[in-house]
Amino acid sequence: KLYSEALRGQFHFSPQRGWTNDPNGMCFYQGQYHLFFQHNPYGRGWGNMTWGHAVSKDMIHWKEIGDALHPDGYGPMFSGTAVVDSNNTSGFGKPGTPAMVMFFTGAKAWCQGLAWTTDGMYFQKMDHAAVPRVRTDNRDPKVFWYAPGNHWVMLFWVEQEGGQHSMQFLRSDNLKDWTKTSIVRGGVKDDRYLHECPDFFELPVDGNPANTRWVLSAANSVYAIGSFDGKTFRPDAERLVGQVGRGYYAAQTFSNEPTGRRIEIGWWQTATDKGDMAFNQSMTIPMELKLITTPEGIRMVRIPVKELETLRRRTIRSGAISLSEKSDDPLGETQAELLEFRMVATPGKSSAIHIDIRGLEVLYDAAAGELSCDGIKAKIPLQQGNLQLTVYADRTGLEIFANNGLYYMPVNKNISGTKSSISVTGGKCSFKQLDVFELKAAWE
Ligand code: FRU
Repeated sequence: KLYSEALRGQFHFSPQRGWTNDPNGMCFYQGQYHLFFQHNPYGRGWGNMTWGHAVSKDMIHWKEIGDALHPDGYGPMFSGTAVVDSNNTSGFGKPGTPAMVMFFTGAKAWCQGLAWTTDGMYFQKMDHAAVPRVRTDNRDPKVFWYAPGNHWVMLFWVEQEGGQHSMQFLRSDNLKDWTKTSIVRGGVKDDRYLHECPDFFELPVDGNPANTRWVLSAANSVYAIGSFDGKTFRPDAERLVGQVGRGYYAAQTFSNEPTGRRIEIGWWQTATDKGDMAFNQSMTIPMELKLITTPEGIRMVRIPVKELETLRRRTIRSGAISLSEKSDDPLGETQAELLEFRMVATPGKSSAIHIDIRGLEVLYDAAAGELSCDGIKAKIPLQQGNLQLTVYADRTGLEIFANNGLYYMPVNKNISGTKSSISVTGGKCSFKQLDVFELKAAWE
């Protein structure tokens, strides 16, 4: 049976066969979400980069429908974007049917190429590069419509003198002819700040549409917040980190999301190159991005999308509870494989919360203010005495969200046990909420 391999994530997208890395061209078009992905159709390792393609009504249940963009004279098809050209600025659309226009990097000629579709199934490439090579290795175009200026914006990664990672910004009226506008500089060489796979978008602060900021992030999810006038990004805050886990890379957000949410999926670098799996690597769950004001300044949070609730099969337990060292395990003899935990805990000053998820321990040490799992540690201070945690557990590991998404700690570790438990040491801990659900697989 397809998708039933021992290490196949059950609610994380992975290709039927072959390798995947970055998500590409994420877009809502003609009633469906489209996820393209860096695909090696011919092996479990990186290579032969091709854009694989899957569609979904809810970003959770994906149907893989065959590769969309194949290597050509410009080289293998490296990462990029897709946009819906609603005003038909490109002329690729038909009356009443706007085109989806995709940008990728041809990784031999090192230039940004263009392809389009008017049915989401058949793709045609423009016969010349949309943007000529800017410098060796320039890649990963992100394109979006800048409404206040009535034009398109592209940015992509380019290495400058001294190995300085930079983002080149360009503009266009028709998606075909591009002019350079500005460059944003990142780190040098091994300092991978602003290295590869840019994403760039505007978000309201604290949900207030009259107060917005632009977010520029790159492949390792380190991000900057600032302002943008259609040509130049001016950061107010740089090198912000919201991802404290392991194996999260090259995330992208959907364009044209119908409810106006900014939703991100990244490459989850899972330990799946083992045994007789037909595939290797996967994507994360979809997460909504928001900006909130914190005592340290404006920060981005990641919140698992509400569509994930459709995966709930049964409630293992729910509601408030108070635990001490002597308490019985509130999960009892529960046996389940796919899980969602939601908790708001108020730990005593020196107590520790141990959440054993099928043999993998998530530990919160209140005295140290530290959350740890499988060797990953992050300082996570209580908020008004509380720790909020949401955890999703699949075969390939955990995705942990702390303090309402201010910290995202993915843990790529294959887990195979079925028993879970929750216990407290060093005192007491009251939980305002301790909800645990068993989930269904997303593959039909
Ligand atoms: C990031 C990356 C991109 C590139 C792609 C190639 O993981 O190196 O910069 O476009 O992967 O597969």
